[in-house]
Amino acid sequence: MLGLKVRKIDGEETRKKLIQRGILDRRYRIKNLGDYLVFPISKRIDGDIVEMEFELLEKRDRYDFKFEMIGDIAIIEDKYDPSILKRKNIRSVYRKTGDTEGIYRIKKYEYVAGEKNTETIHKEYGCRYMLDIRKVYFNPRLATERYRIAEKVRDGERILDMFAGVGPFSILIAKKKNVEIHSIDINPDAFYYLKKNIEINKVRNVFPYLGDCREIVKELPDFDRIIMNLPKSSLDFMDTALNKIKKNGIIHLYSIKQKEEIKYNVIDIQKVKSYSPGVYVWRYDIKP
Ligand SMILES: C[S@@+](CC[C@H](N)C(=O)[O-])C[C@H]1O[C@@H](n2cnc3c(N)ncnc32)[C@H](O)[C@@H]1O
Repeated sequence: MLGLKVRKIDGEETRKKLIQRGILDRRYRIKNLGDYLVFPISKRIDGDIVEMEFELLEKRDRYDFKFEMIGDIAIIEDKYDPSILKRKNIRSVYRKTGDTEGIYRIKKYEYVAGEKNTETIHKEYGCRYMLDIRKVYFNPRLATERYRIAEKVRDGERILDMFAGVGPFSILIAKKKNVEIHSIDINPDAFYYLKKNIEINKVRNVFPYLGDCREIVKELPDFDRIIMNLPKSSLDFMDTALNKIKKNGIIHLYSIKQKEEIKYNVIDIQKVKSYSPGVYVWRYDIKP
């Protein structure tokens, strides 16, 4: 049968496009070849097309409703099928009841089924993140983006993660590269899990801080790279970032604003994920 081979970092975007175009054959399991994924497809399209056998998914593994996994918690949107609890990797089911809100960027959830426990451990690119979905921000759909950033980092850099959350950018980079990372979050629960995750992942090069990044950075040196993952209001913090970036450094600004509104020296743009219908999160790479 036909398969479309893509690099793993392009996997999520490819999956969405194939679903939109009605080409992904969802009866079969996507093949994982290490750095590459092969998507089972129903007709020949442009791209790296291969002929191979795919494993047929059992009926209980195919659902006609959307859900997202954070650790062993399945997050559903509206309806769901209780049989998903038979899957070994699902311990609890929660339903999202609101959008990401407030300074801490937290979502509201209601309990649906399984064990009543919102703390879990999410695995991503060889790292483990302990978190409580009700107390902190975490989005598994940013996995590919975190990997992209980690790939850009060079050994020896000093990095600032201004809105670190439970540490998924910081910890992945710290594991992959020989760098020093200063990671700030204003949410005490995010800070608690950030410290836990530094411990769990045995990284010694991440330095956690609790507080407003505008205050904390005053005590810190200049940086080669600054990560600003706060898409709704990151632009308000650009002065802080520009004060702390080295002459040859780079700022990764995540924002829902259009290119025309970014009045800085943008050298590259990446579409990261959808934010709301018709609105996207973009990454603007900015030089001082
Ligand atoms: C969109 S989340 C990103 C978290 C993390 N980078 C991730 O990818 O999971 C933004 C985070 O910024 C934190 N935050 C908001 N305002 C802040 C501020 N002024 N200083 C430090 N952290 C802040 C929030 O608590 C939240 O955890």
